[in-house]
Amino acid sequence: MRNTVVFKINPEKPDLRKIKIAAKAIKQGKIVAFPTETVYGLGANIFNFQAVLKIFEVKKRPLKDPLIVHIGDKKDVFNLAKKIPEEAMMLINKFWPGPLTVVLEKSDIVLNIITAGLDTVAIRMPKNLIALNLIKFAKTPICAPSANIFGRPSPTCAKHVLDDLGKKVDIVIDGGRTNIGLESTVIDMTRKPFRILRPGGITTEEISKLLGKVKLHTNKSKIIRSPGMLRHHYSPEANLILVEKKNGQISKIKRLALNFKKQGKHVGIMVTSENQNKFEGFKTKTIGSINDLRTCAFNLFSILRSFDKEKVDVIIAEGIKPQGFGLTIMDRLRKAANLIL
Ligand code: TXA
Ligand code: MG
Repeated sequence: MRNTVVFKINPEKPDLRKIKIAAKAIKQGKIVAFPTETVYGLGANIFNFQAVLKIFEVKKRPLKDPLIVHIGDKKDVFNLAKKIPEEAMMLINKFWPGPLTVVLEKSDIVLNIITAGLDTVAIRMPKNLIALNLIKFAKTPICAPSANIFGRPSPTCAKHVLDDLGKKVDIVIDGGRTNIGLESTVIDMTRKPFRILRPGGITTEEISKLLGKVKLHTNKSKIIRSPGMLRHHYSPEANLILVEKKNGQISKIKRLALNFKKQGKHVGIMVTSENQNKFEGFKTKTIGSINDLRTCAFNLFSILRSFDKEKVDVIIAEGIKPQGFGLTIMDRLRKAANLIL
């Protein structure tokens, strides 16, 4: 048990004194949860083996799942990676700081524990002043997975971090709700065709505009390139049933909800605002309008967690069209679901 310190910091106008204290803790090998523009991360000094190991322990994350290295200056990529293809530099120049993680061949300074023994390293520069100043003052890149217990929905506010990791973290920086609410896009740039390993805050379409067509790595692909791509991630405690966008979707959701209710189960339905009034008599939560997928993304993890707080047994989620930001949302829902219909 530790004595977790919570620092409340405004991400628009961060109090640098508090960030300096957190940076000092990172330097000393402590672990600090901090906001990024995507979700909260649990950070450690990349050169401190014990601190990195602590992250895996606290999250209950298997050591075979590598971590993203967060940098505060684009130039740091040259210390951490080698053989950086021109296309990777194009992405970096366009999207950093921002929700894009590039996987590159690693340099020798990156500890094997961070990359789970792979010869590649995932790097990103977050777009959040708290995160950027933390890295700057710590004078080291910071490796950070999402600050949740492994397998649970990622935290989009400090409360989620405290709920999952409680007293196990030295410092939690509370910078309010994260802007995007879903994780960064991960793209493997180490071999052609370049592949998106995880859709995220930068859409596949935005990347294609710059690089031409890129491949989307799916679970059906034979090789697992990214252990975090495995199913059963982002899951709430309740059973999650995802009903994909097809004919009869609404009546299917209703039938399921009614059946579970008859069995005495506590059912929650997650719907777009356009369909909210179609489930009278049921507990519903609105993710946002189908015409505003950024808001849907922003709300997703937080709604899954709030159903858990209300001790729902079954969550039935309305699937949306997997396009643009909808693809990121559906990726998370499909991985979280116990059943997809
Ligand atoms: O938005 C984000 O990316 C957040 C914030 C905190 O930056 N971080 C995050 O980290 O989502 P995490 O650890 O929850 O997810 C990182 C993903 C995992 O799926 C992991 O397997 C993959 O990136 N990854 C890390 N290093 C990799 C590598 N060398 N090759 C392939 N995949 C890698
Ligand atoms: Mg994660």
